[in-house]
Amino acid sequence: MSAAPPLVDRIADAHVVVCAGPGGVGKTTTAAALGLALARRGRRVAVVTIDPARRLADALGLGRLGNDPERVDPARLAGLGVAAPGELWASMLDPQATFDALIGELSPDARVRDEVLANPIYRQISGSAGGSHEFTAVARLYDLAHDDRFDVVVLDTPPSRNALDFLDAPERIAGFLEGRAIQAIIGGGRRGVASRIARRGTGVVLRGLQRLTGVDLLRDLQTFFTTIGPLSDGFAARATAVGELLRDGRTRFVVITGPGPVPAAEAEFFRAHLAEVGMPFTGLVVNRVAVVAERDRDLDGESVATTLRDALGAPLADAVGHTWDAHRRLAARDRETVAALVRSTGDDAPTVVPTLDGEVFDLPALVAVVDVLDPPRPAA
Ligand SMILES: Nc1ncnc2c1ncn2[C@@H]1O[C@H](COP(=O)(O)OP(=O)(O)OP(=O)(O)O)[C@@H](O)[C@H]1O
Ligand SMILES: [Mg+2]
Repeated sequence: MSAAPPLVDRIADAHVVVCAGPGGVGKTTTAAALGLALARRGRRVAVVTIDPARRLADALGLGRLGNDPERVDPARLAGLGVAAPGELWASMLDPQATFDALIGELSPDARVRDEVLANPIYRQISGSAGGSHEFTAVARLYDLAHDDRFDVVVLDTPPSRNALDFLDAPERIAGFLEGRAIQAIIGGGRRGVASRIARRGTGVVLRGLQRLTGVDLLRDLQTFFTTIGPLSDGFAARATAVGELLRDGRTRFVVITGPGPVPAAEAEFFRAHLAEVGMPFTGLVVNRVAVVAERDRDLDGESVATTLRDALGAPLADAVGHTWDAHRRLAARDRETVAALVRSTGDDAPTVVPTLDGEVFDLPALVAVVDVLDPPRPAA
């Protein structure tokens, strides 16, 4: 049985690449690196990053922007091996702008759109942190996947404690405005929840609050549901379309993880869940791995210290020897984790990215990651 091809070969003709995995393992870094790798292979790539570290954003030229992809300067990319027709565009997810754009797309006219956008309840719901990143990330993915400027969209995913939240996001688009629930609340005049609240004690409380604060919560709620109700079918249809996009034959899920036991277990769980929900698993990236070259694996700390004692003196040479042993132990543990991940995920050729010196904050450092993900091929 032959091993799976290298990762970038597996995503080379993708239309959508989703970079998912536990928090803090390198999803944003990998999304940017895969974007650069695909641009190097001549594709017009849009990378959607989510809260990238400020310096990575600056390196991508994202200092000034947000939701709309900006093209990374071709002159800078030329030096990194990206030549026409390859293009790299990068953006930073803006949940509020994405939510507002979705309302615009689903509204029958500008009046309805403006009414919803101005509604205080809408502002509250759309701006709340809980789940809105996952929700808007897939909404944004859908828009960019239908944008002719790009051949492929690479999506970073939010730093979520539970990577599975992301996969439920399409259902949440529908759940946000599930038709029947909305109908029950608007519920035709006197039978509606809002008017029932008004008739009961709650209404008295709300009216009291209104006198104190000047906020007419009841009226806001009623207008919110009345205005947004007719959009619920559109939300449901969009949720279905997003679900189809995530399961499309040209969509690829790359699972990124770290070599520690906790992220590794989360990655295994995520990979299993992908299969359950019928979404494709394309490959695994194990990032920030301690690596020792095969030829050095038997070299022990004592021998290292002995070699260095004359040059460094005993205390320093011994310290280097101890550090070397600690690194060897870590590397051995990481090799075991990678082997276990191969068995549990079924990717027999995962990409192992070593821990680099320093963080990945500028384009040259990003290229070092790209070169691991997509090793330059020797000239024929
Ligand atoms: N191979 C690597 N070697 C060294 N540093 C790395 C490597 N990969 C990523 N980093 C650094 O690790 C940090 C976390 O990476 P990144 O922001 O990509 O993780 P993330 O999964 O997107 O995190 P979050 O879940 O918070 O969004 C960053 O400071 C990044 O520069
Ligand atoms: Mg991130």
